[in-house]
This record gives sequence, C-alpha cells and structure tokens, in this order.
Amino acid sequence: MFTRNGVWAIISKDKIKDFFHRFKSFHIIVFFVIFAVGVLPCFILSRGIVANYESRAIEQRIVNIKTQCEIIINQMGMSEYLDEPSSEVINAQLTQLANFYDGRIMVIDKDYNIVKDTFSMNTGKTIVSEEVINCFKGIENSRYDKVNNYIEQAVCIEHSVTKKIIGVMLISVSTDSIVDSIDILMTKAYILQLALSLAIVVVAFYVSRRLSRPFAKISDDIAEMSEGFLNEEISVKSYREMELIVKSINKMINRMKVLDNSRQEFVSNVSHELKTPITSMKVLADSLLMQEEAPVELYKEFMTDIVEEIDRESKIIEDLLSLVKMDKTSQNLNIMPVNLNELLELILKRLQPIAAKRNIELLFESFRPVTAEIDDVKITLVISNLVENAIKYNVDNGWVHVSLNADHKFFYVTVEDSGIGIPKKSQEYIFERFYRVDKSHSREIGGTGLGLAITRNAVLLHRGTIKVSSEENKGTTFTVRIPLSYIAS
Ligand SMILES: Nc1ncnc2c1ncn2[C@@H]1O[C@H](COP(=O)(O)OP(=O)(O)O)[C@@H](O)[C@H]1O
Ligand SMILES: [Mg+2]
Repeated sequence: MFTRNGVWAIISKDKIKDFFHRFKSFHIIVFFVIFAVGVLPCFILSRGIVANYESRAIEQRIVNIKTQCEIIINQMGMSEYLDEPSSEVINAQLTQLANFYDGRIMVIDKDYNIVKDTFSMNTGKTIVSEEVINCFKGIENSRYDKVNNYIEQAVCIEHSVTKKIIGVMLISVSTDSIVDSIDILMTKAYILQLALSLAIVVVAFYVSRRLSRPFAKISDDIAEMSEGFLNEEISVKSYREMELIVKSINKMINRMKVLDNSRQEFVSNVSHELKTPITSMKVLADSLLMQEEAPVELYKEFMTDIVEEIDRESKIIEDLLSLVKMDKTSQNLNIMPVNLNELLELILKRLQPIAAKRNIELLFESFRPVTAEIDDVKITLVISNLVENAIKYNVDNGWVHVSLNADHKFFYVTVEDSGIGIPKKSQEYIFERFYRVDKSHSREIGGTGLGLAITRNAVLLHRGTIKVSSEENKGTTFTVRIPLSYIAS
C-alpha cells in the first residue's frame, strides 16, 4: 500500500511538473499577460460602474423619500395627528406613499408608541430601536439592507410652532426595482465583457504568436543544422537580443566548422604522409623484382633506400604519437623543478655530432643559473626540435647560438641560426601540422613537418609563448618564453 502510494506520488509529481513546464513557453506567457492586461481592467471597471450606479440609485431614492415625507410631516406637525391619528387625509397620503414605494410606514410618538402602521400590524405597540432613539436626539438616519433589499429611513416630526421633536416617522422601502435594474445592467456588462474577452483572446493569440515566431525559427534552424540540412549560417531578423544570440551561435558554428575542417585535413595529411614512404618502398622493391639478375650492388643500394624510407615512416609515426600524447596529457604534465642550464647543456651535447657533420658551430650562452617548474621531457622536445631545425636548415660551416636568460617571472630560450631563413608569407604557417616551406628540399633533409607543431603544443601546455623572426638567406631566431612557476589551470 505504502509503495503503491509512493510510486503514485513520484509519477504524479513528474506529471505535474511536466504539465506546468508547458506553460513556461514564451508564447503562452505573453498570451496570458496580454489577456490579463486586457480583461482584468475591463472586469474591474464594469464592477466599479455597477457599484457606483447602485450607491447613487440608493442615495437618490432616500432623497426622494425624504422630500415626499416632508409634506406629510409638516401636516402632522401642524395637526394633532400624533395624539389622534385619525386624519383621513394624512392616513391616505401615508398609504399612498407606502404603496408607491412598495414599503411600510410607521409613525411613532414621543412615548415610543406606534400610533400608525400602514401594515396595521404593530399599531399600539412600543418600538425602541436605535434609529428611533437617534431620531429623538435629532439625528435622522437611514440604513440600506443589501441582503433583504430595503432601505429604512427615520425622519423626525417637529412641532410646527415649538420646533420640538414630537415623533418619528419610520419608513421601510423596498429596493427591488433598483436591484432589478442592476441585474439588467450586470447582464449587459457580462455580455460586453464576454465579447471583449473573446476579442482579446484573439488579439493575444495573434500577438503572442508573432512575438514568439523568432524563437521557433531559431530552434527550427538549429534542428535543421544539426540534422545536416542547413549549411549556411542561421539568420533571424528580430529583436536585438535575439540577433546577438544568433550571432554567438553562428560564431560557435563557424568555430566548429573550422575545427572539423582541420580535423579532416589532419586525417588526410596523416594518410598522405604515411603513404609516401610506403609508395617509395614499393617502387624500389618492384624495380628490383623486375630485373632478372640485378647486381648485388644495386640490391644494396636499393635496400639502403628502403631502410631510409622505413626510418622515415617510423619517425612520422613517432612524431604523430608525441603530438597525440601532447593533446591527451594536457591535464597530467609531470611538473618538477628543473635546472635549465644543465638540461640545455645536455641537449646540445647530444646534438653536437649532427652539427659537427656539416661543420656547424653550436654555441650555448647562459646569462644566469635558471631553475623552473617544468615537464623536462616536453621541454627537452621543444629545445631539441628547435636546435635540430637550426642545424637542418643551416648552411655548411654555419653557426647556431642558443641562449638562456630569465627575469623574475619567465625564463627565455632563444635559438638563433645562420641558415636559409623562412619566407615572410610562410612564417605564420610553420607551426601547423605537416607544414613545410620547401617540400622537396625538406624531404631530402628528412622532415615530417610535425616538429614545430609538437614544439608549440608543449610550450602552450606550459602557458608559454613561442615567436619566430627570420630573414631569407640570413637566418632565423626562435624565442621561447615560459613562466618560472607552473600555472595550473
Ligand atoms: N630554423 C629554421 N630555418 C629555416 N626554416 C625552418 C627552420 N625551422 C623550421 N623551418 C621551416 O619550417 C618547417 C616546419 O618545421 P618542422 O615543423 O620542424 O618540420 P620539419 O620536420 O620539416 O623540420 C620546416 O619544414 C622548414 O621549412
Ligand atoms: Mg623539424
């Protein structure tokens, strides 16, 4: 029983939530606002008019009664009616007045005795009501009984000569006729309200639909886009805020397109780069097989070429792996304090033999001892790539200068060479994956075009910057700047 109730509670709660969530639509909210703003004042106004009419009608009725009573009271004040209520003229007038207003009139003398009652029910009885007592004090008052639909008015009867209050006339008058006309008025007001409400519903529906149309358009466009039917940008001419949202969405979409393009380009580049050495190997192997009796020297020569191609292939794969790893391990760098002077000396010592082959002078200059919080494996990759390039793209008998410096915040490594330089228009692309200035030349030098991409990624992981300045046939300088203390994201 309990579980059942529990399940029921969960279901109905969700359903209720769902139900109310539907009303959170802009369309429906605007609709209700317009409806409320349109219908409520009209409703309040009609109520006000009816209430105003009622109070005025009652006031008017009281004034009328008083004026009509005045004449009879004057006659009573002059005659001895209160002592002897037998005047036929007055009695007839009283009956006529009572009948006219569908009411009842009682005349009371100063001993609170009812001397005349048009209903003839209470004649001779005593009445001690608040109205009567007040009237003897000179306060004439009237009371409107809304529930039973009548007005009660007490009027003082003064003696014509002494001006003393000698009696009270108590008149009860039915207000049925007023209530009837109010009913008619109300019916008319209801009809008018209904008509107006209907008109407002139509207007509210139309306006709210119009106002919410841009929202629907955007959501349709985005849906179409995510299903791949819409290739261009979303365009909605609408409110300024909406246009700003659309602008941001378009910006995001463009960024995604750029990312997607670069991903596609990367995949096609990778396939191409991996295929090139294999194609070469196939050509070499095929040409050996084609020759019936190829000399051993030819075999040796071709095999050496094939081994070179295999090395190239492994180098590309190795570089690709470093690149992918760099993307993946951005979160878990192995940061520790490292003595950079020692690290740089070690790297240069390792590269010294390659430089020596072409008689390139490799110089290291350190301005101060520097220790920084870095991932030494990745920074080693950065420096070796830069120095390798400086040697590779150098002239025979050239030079490579590496310097290390620091201020209170950063350390700086510059790698300067006397090499072939990089053309101005290529400088902005050299950090892109697989980009090489001179493809054929680089090929014989043996590059993958991934070195600088790896370098830049590693520098960025350390929240550093890398800059290049170069002049063709003069030389190139790369400057790396990295914070001394690692800034965790
Ligand atoms: N020190 C340099 N001097 C001249 N050109 C350079 C230098 N460093 C890089 N480059 C150019 O930038 C390209 C990209 O370098 P990199 O990403 O290391 O690829 P690669 O595998 O070809 O060395 C190189 O192919 C070369 O054209
Ligand atoms: Mg390189």
